Amino acid sequence: MGGTQAVISRAALRNNLGVIRRTIPPTTRVMGVVKANCYGHSTPICVPVLRDEGIDLFGVANVAEGEQLRQSGIDETIVVLGPPIPGMMHAYGQHRLEAFVSNARMAAQLAESTPVGASVNVHLFVDTGMARNGARPDDAVELLRFINGLPQLTIVGIASHFATSDEPENTFTRQQLGLFDSTLRRATDAGFRFRDVHMANSGGIFNLPDSHYSVVRPGLSLYGYHPTESRQASSGLIPVMELRTHVANVTRFPAGVSVSYGRRYFTQQETEIATLPIGYGDGLMRTLTNKLNVLIAGTSFPVVGTICMDEVMIDLGLSSGVQPGEKAVLIGTSGERQIDAYQLANTVGTIPYEICTNISARVPRIPAD
Ligand SMILES: Cc1ncc(COP(=O)(O)O)c(C=O)c1O
Repeated sequence: MGGTQAVISRAALRNNLGVIRRTIPPTTRVMGVVKANCYGHSTPICVPVLRDEGIDLFGVANVAEGEQLRQSGIDETIVVLGPPIPGMMHAYGQHRLEAFVSNARMAAQLAESTPVGASVNVHLFVDTGMARNGARPDDAVELLRFINGLPQLTIVGIASHFATSDEPENTFTRQQLGLFDSTLRRATDAGFRFRDVHMANSGGIFNLPDSHYSVVRPGLSLYGYHPTESRQASSGLIPVMELRTHVANVTRFPAGVSVSYGRRYFTQQETEIATLPIGYGDGLMRTLTNKLNVLIAGTSFPVVGTICMDEVMIDLGLSSGVQPGEKAVLIGTSGERQIDAYQLANTVGTIPYEICTNISARVPRIPAD
């Protein structure tokens, strides 16, 4: 098949889950974080693989994602990691979604939205340093008692989230862990028991073994990226997505010709310019203009001129021999060369999460083994 595609390697996904499992204690369970269409990697392709590999919890961002998973036949535990939103709370009971609860108001509304006789499993979410959602550690026990008094809610977990766990040996991360630990201790001293105790994202999993508890919540590392770039090469993680397209057209131009909108590139000498059918409409950020390379048959070529919505141009020189129809790799491997999402992210000052989730719905996700 030609055109632009995101090829999703199921073997890489299985490999990455294996790497994560070898990093955590055998009794610690894995909650696969599958929000935002599995960070752009395709929920319909990735979730069945994770389920077949025995993942028994899934983490999603909101109830719509949870409902989508339930409707696709997923019977495993689904935890909504974002806060319950007024107007959407009935969906937790309806689709057997578990909630992150941060305060009494949220808990009361969730209970009110749940029919008598039904029950919603909740995780007390404690803010140890993200200042996003979550209860203050000092309020946790009181809040647990309050939730316990609501017949529609069942406490099954206690959780928190790191702000800087991608930075190894970070004192703030340690501080957060200490706060979570003391909160957990106070809760258990008060008689509370939890099926799931969880804090570790990918950073916690790889950089802070003390944070593993009974459940870990990997996202990025499942999709093949170590949260700490300097550890990527030795991690054993394999990027799951290859972003590829095919050469659409090759044209010879003389020196001094301006290429694309805004005339931001001029040919230096006579050269061949190829077009590739991929642009910012596919998620290839326009800010990558004149900063991006693609790989064709193991050779790297510069993308030149402003990135268009649907196309980019590359300067082939005169001796490449590249023909229309040839495969061009934007993220992935070609011959001896490799481009990963970290390289693209560094070029424009972002993170691999954004590069991958940005690949738009227009790009077909093609499963590969
Ligand atoms: C609450 C929560 N847990 C876990 C994760 C997964 O994090 P990562 O992709 O860094 O592993 C996220 C993602 O942002 C999250 O919001």
